[in-house]
Parts: sequence; C-alpha cells; structure tokens
Amino acid sequence: MVRTLSVIKADIGGFVGHSGMHPDVMDVLRKNMDDAINKSLLIDGQVHACGDDAFLIMSHDNGEDNKDVHKFAWDSFIDGTEVAKKLHLYGAGQDLLVDAFSGNIKGAGPGSAELEYEERPSEPVIIFMGDKTSAGSFNLPFYKMFADPFNTAGLVISESLHQGFAFEVHDVKEHKKIILNSPEEIYDLLVFIGSPARYAVKRVVSRTSNSIACVSSTDKLSEIAGRYVGKDDPTSIVRCQGDFPAVGEVLEAFTTAWTVEGFMRGSHYGPWMPVSLDEANPSRFDGPPRVVALGFQLADGKLIGPRDMFDDPSFDNARAEANDISDYLRKHGPFEPHRLPLDEMEYTTMPTVADKLNKRWSEI
Ligand code: 13P
Ligand code: 13P
Ligand code: MG
Ligand code: MG
Repeated sequence: MVRTLSVIKADIGGFVGHSGMHPDVMDVLRKNMDDAINKSLLIDGQVHACGDDAFLIMSHDNGEDNKDVHKFAWDSFIDGTEVAKKLHLYGAGQDLLVDAFSGNIKGAGPGSAELEYEERPSEPVIIFMGDKTSAGSFNLPFYKMFADPFNTAGLVISESLHQGFAFEVHDVKEHKKIILNSPEEIYDLLVFIGSPARYAVKRVVSRTSNSIACVSSTDKLSEIAGRYVGKDDPTSIVRCQGDFPAVGEVLEAFTTAWTVEGFMRGSHYGPWMPVSLDEANPSRFDGPPRVVALGFQLADGKLIGPRDMFDDPSFDNARAEANDISDYLRKHGPFEPHRLPLDEMEYTTMPTVADKLNKRWSEI
C-alpha cells in the first residue's frame, strides 16, 4: 500500500532573535501532533527544530497535498504563533503569509516535502532540516548522493544503483520543470542545478525501480510575498539502502561545508554546517547556516527514531571547515562574494535603501 511521509515546516517566531525555537512553542506543536495521532489523522508524527524553524514530520495514508493534513499543519502553526506572540518572540508568524488558509500549504508560506512510498521490509529514511539557507541548497548534496561515484560507491558496485537516477528540476521563477537522467545527462543537469537560487531539485527517482528516492521543499518565500520576509529554510526526505544510496553514502554528501545563501539577513553566502539537534542554534552573525539529519526506520508507517545522524565526530572536520570558512568570508564584510550578488539582493531589504538614493544619481 502507498503511504505518505510529509514534512511541513515554518518559522513562526524565533528565540532569541532568529537563533532558535522557544520550548513553549514546541510544546504546543507537540500537543497538537499527539491529538492528530489520537484522532487517527496521522499514523505517527514528531516535531523537531533546526534554528528558528519548526518541522512537523507526519506519517499518514492520505497522500500528498491532502487538505486535512495541510490544514492540520497550518492550524498548528497558527496555535504556535499565538504562543510566540504572547512571549514577544522574534518574527512571530514570520512564514505565515496568507490571511486565510485555502486548503493547501503551497503558496501560503510554510515549506513542504512529501514522499509517497510503498514501505519496504526495512525502510530507512533521513529527514534533513535546514536553517539560514534556502530552497536549492540540497542541489549539490543530492548530486553527490545520486550522481557522483566518488561519493556513492553503490553507483559503481551495486547493481540496483548502476542504472542511475532521474532528477526533477524546478525553475522556481518561471514555475516550470524538467526531468534529466543521470549519468548520461549530467552535464545538462549541472547547467541548471549549479544555479540553486533559480533551479532546485524537487525529486530524484530510481531508474531501476521508478520509486522516489528523495523529495525536497522548493518553496521560495520571496516569490510568494514579492519581498523579503525571511528565508525559505528547506527540508528534504531521503530514502536509503536497497535501490537507493546507503545511509553512509547519503550522509557523506555533507562532509564538506558547502557554500549556501542565507547567512545574516538572508543576504550573505556562508558554509552549511552539519550539526546535531543540540547544536542547531545559529547565533554567530545569525549563522553559519545549519543542517540537521534525523534518521528513522519506518515500521508500518510508525517513525522509529530519530537517530541524530550528525551527532558523530566524523563530521567534526566539516564543522571546523565551516568555522574556518565563516572566519574568512566574514572578513569581506559587506563585499561580494560574502554578500549576495546584486540580482539576488533584489529579494532582501536592500532595495528600499537604494531607492532612497535614486535622485542623487546623475549621468556621466
Ligand atoms: P552491513 O553489512 O553492515 O549490512 O553493511 C552493508 C552496507 O552496504 C553498508 O554500507
Ligand atoms: P530566518 O529566515 O531563519 O528567520 O533568518 C532570517 C535572517 O536572515 C536572520 O539574519
Ligand atoms: Mg526567523
Ligand atoms: Mg529560519
């Protein structure tokens, strides 16, 4: 039978500033989650945080884009926002962009990644949660996991991975998609996914079994609101083993602190640091950007876990690298390439400053 794993996430208020979540907000989200399980809307569910973003992990039989599941997530974020408002948390309700919920979370502000799957006898999945970064940040790690044999040994030595994977790439500005096959179209694929501010990998599918290997959130808040309202801190779900990369191959893709956009005011590039749940509270220059990996075994739709996968000294070098890169980039202050290029700054608070000086410019 087809089951669904949905991750719906939002920033509904930061504690302190944009650095973390307040326990009282987490409590109300967890209480709502327990109610939804008791009422049988969900088979199972958990709430976790990375920085100032709350991630609702929901296992159910209702399929993708289910109105009741999406409404539950929206209502839960509204309840959390109420607590955040009472405590005067920072940016309470930051990602809830519409006044009235219309039945689907897409286009309303929160980010979502939903996986429909037939549960295998053993179903290991990893849920990634990002903060201080943006949609498209998973492009490079997904490429490493599903297309790079120097990362994923299985592409070479396992028959079930040898046929490669199909990448569904979304153009987040033009709202178009294309499917490109690895390995034979990797040069075409890289033309697009190498530019993650515009093109984001939405899904990867096994060419052996046609089953979905991973999904990610590609919602871009600036595209929804038309102005800067905080960032689309992303999430993704990755299936492991069998026809998919092994758990260790999936995690190997994060042994380098890749440069992503989203550091301070959503306006700077910084290194994406793989961290445990306890270390997911970005505070230096509101960063550096973080990623947490929660490992689960699914058992008849129940979430067995999580194991906090980056809580492992083998990621210490990536964390040290992230700190070194932060030190180096920070020295550039307001200069590119630490600050985002001008066309990306269009989606930040900078245009209002530039507008103020419009009249002072003259011909040369
Ligand atoms: P085990 O022999 O521990 O199952 O490991 C197999 C494997 O593929 C590890 O990557
Ligand atoms: P969030 O999108 O995580 O709220 O971060 C906003 C920001 O840019 C903080 O400097
Ligand atoms: Mg915030
Ligand atoms: Mg955030």
